[in-house]
Amino acid sequence: MSIICRKAVPEDVEALYELIQDYAAKGIMLPRSKDALSRSIHTFVVVEDQGKLIGCGSLCRLGVDLVEIRSLGIADGYKGKGMGSMLVDALMAEAKEQRIPKVMALTYETAFFQKNGFTVVEKEIFPEKVWTDCVNCPKQNNCDEIAVLRLVEFAPEQLTTDYVQI
Ligand SMILES: CC(C)(COP(=O)(O)OP(=O)(O)OC[C@H]1O[C@@H](n2cnc3c(N)ncnc32)[C@H](O)[C@@H]1OP(=O)(O)O)[C@@H](O)C(=O)NCCC(=O)NCCS
Repeated sequence: MSIICRKAVPEDVEALYELIQDYAAKGIMLPRSKDALSRSIHTFVVVEDQGKLIGCGSLCRLGVDLVEIRSLGIADGYKGKGMGSMLVDALMAEAKEQRIPKVMALTYETAFFQKNGFTVVEKEIFPEKVWTDCVNCPKQNNCDEIAVLRLVEFAPEQLTTDYVQI
């Protein structure tokens, strides 16, 4: 295997669409149209094996100090080999580069996120979330996903005056 984790480019839209659609059909992810993917392609990181896209994840800005990991998935046949963690590492690095101190996700894969340094938290601490994806989600009033949170580790000099690390 020759595995590469990199930022997504517009040429990835088709393969990304197929990967996400597969999970959306199973109710694990929200579907994303090709148009929406094209517009948000700069928020995605992908994993490829010899040119074949086998995993993806994106970072969606929810507020001044908060981003959400979305559309995180590894293709069947490639799970359990550390690639999901590789994507989380890349997304955490991206949050750090953007100086965003809090990274959250809504997930059924709590154990995976805990292995990657996240803590289970109450959904209600994220009012921002309600105004984005949730308004279009069929499970809006019946959400059974678990909220997880990880804080980005900054050196003191990396913090801007806008943010206070908790
Ligand atoms: C969740 C997902 C991204 C994990 O990716 P992955 O490449 O299989 O995970 P990794 O190999 O990096 O696993 C890292 C650690 O988490 C553990 N882990 C992964 N999935 C797990 C699960 N479902 N339950 C318990 N532990 C799990 C692994 O055993 C590993 O532990 P270790 O470090 O002690 O060996 C992948 O299973 C997936 O695509 N699931 C379907 C889509 C989905 O639910 N995405 C989450 C949306 S928020």
